[in-house]
Amino acid sequence: MSQARALDHSRWTASLSAQTDFSGWRDAARRLATNEIAPDDIVWSAGESEDLFAADTPLPDVAPGVTLNVPREFIDRAEAVICHSDPTRFALLYRILFRLRTEPNLLKIASDPDVMKLYEMEKSVRRDIHKMRAFVRFVEVGEGKDKRYAAWFEPDHFIVERNAPFFVRRFTGMAWAILTPKGTAEWDGENLTIGPPASKADAPAADATEDLWRTYFTNIFNPARLKVKAMQAEMPKKYWKNLPEAALIPDLIKGADRAARDMIERMPTMPAPHHAKVQEKYWSAKETPTDAEAPAHSLDEARRQAEGCRRCPLWRDATQTVFGEGPQDARIVFVGEQPGDQEDIAGKPFVGPAGKVFDGVLDEAGVDRRITYVTNAVKHFKFEPRGKRRIHSKPNAGEVQACRWWVEQELGFIKPDLAVALGATAALSLLGKAIPVTKMRGEVVTRDDGLRVFITIHPSFILRIRERADAEAERERFVADMVAVRKLMVG
Ligand code: URA
Repeated sequence: MSQARALDHSRWTASLSAQTDFSGWRDAARRLATNEIAPDDIVWSAGESEDLFAADTPLPDVAPGVTLNVPREFIDRAEAVICHSDPTRFALLYRILFRLRTEPNLLKIASDPDVMKLYEMEKSVRRDIHKMRAFVRFVEVGEGKDKRYAAWFEPDHFIVERNAPFFVRRFTGMAWAILTPKGTAEWDGENLTIGPPASKADAPAADATEDLWRTYFTNIFNPARLKVKAMQAEMPKKYWKNLPEAALIPDLIKGADRAARDMIERMPTMPAPHHAKVQEKYWSAKETPTDAEAPAHSLDEARRQAEGCRRCPLWRDATQTVFGEGPQDARIVFVGEQPGDQEDIAGKPFVGPAGKVFDGVLDEAGVDRRITYVTNAVKHFKFEPRGKRRIHSKPNAGEVQACRWWVEQELGFIKPDLAVALGATAALSLLGKAIPVTKMRGEVVTRDDGLRVFITIHPSFILRIRERADAEAERERFVADMVAVRKLMVG
């Protein structure tokens, strides 16, 4: 008789100390699974929602001599899924863990209902985390030494604790609190405290900081890339009520045509007001230090793995990984150097000043950016802090080499007809050796694997030219390059 059969309990109760008590879940799951206690025989509860009828009977000890081999991938996903608000998540995770004992390849069966549910929940949590990063807006409270910042946010899931280290890194030097109905995070400049749920009445009302956000949003708004539907998907209406800048959206959309005409001249010189809040150093470790040792099975998986990339030290100071963006069936892949300050904050490539030049030039050349894939040779922002600003610093050959792991996977999944190297760093990444870009500009180099690589300049080169006429001439040459690219795409 196995140890499990010897345990005479028709129903076990596993009580977790909090909604996101992952170590509690893991401990309970190990005790239960090693004793072969079936998923249907367990009631899971968390925090205050304890089952009153639950016996105080302690869970069995881990069965001696029984080992559980749990794939790292499952742990990573489970750590995210535990933040979901669906109360059935604990049971789902246990069911999968229980099945993994005899079905080690279970996670690869994407059509399995449990696996589907796991992926769906994980995606929803990650999306919620992303939304919180994008839409938390602080207002100023107190004065002088007591000056603090507070924000009210309404997440779908229990993500406050998981997301708090991001805000610590981003706003290290301010004292702040993020209040949500699913818990609070408070940072006093040295210590992070995770607290109980708050109500909106606890959050302070608007202040001058909201004007900063409005100005920032007006500055980063890019009418040349206006896609109302996509924008609304990114910034769902439910978040609008807590966003000071949302009031601007209708006017910005209306003025898009006019704004597009003079945007390129206007954008590059405008400092983003949020820089006042961005810290000089981001020290703390990321919350998901999972680097992949084997290539991914899909572009989405590569993107997810790259979030935890530790292949070079640049992840430490950057806000986040900026992976490529665009359709997987794109026929053309543009490769830039590395994300800049605005890309680092937005998590998207080429959205800052160089991106504006790039968009304008593509537009003039008749290349629709939306059907292309845009990425960078290096996925983390490398910078030197100067005062409160972060000044771009060129990635070195080792950093480019480390990041080829991701670039080559992107190319492998997309299989484009043509890759465009925007500048020397991109050319180094794509060709594996340094080449003289100004000399070879406009040439197509075919790699050993058959991929054709078009060589051209980086759009920021145009931004650095002081003489207006020279900059204009250089821009025209860049437009001509993009026309050539368009023709290569069709041909
Ligand atoms: N420069 C780049 O090379 N890439 C970006 O994403 C932004 C600026």
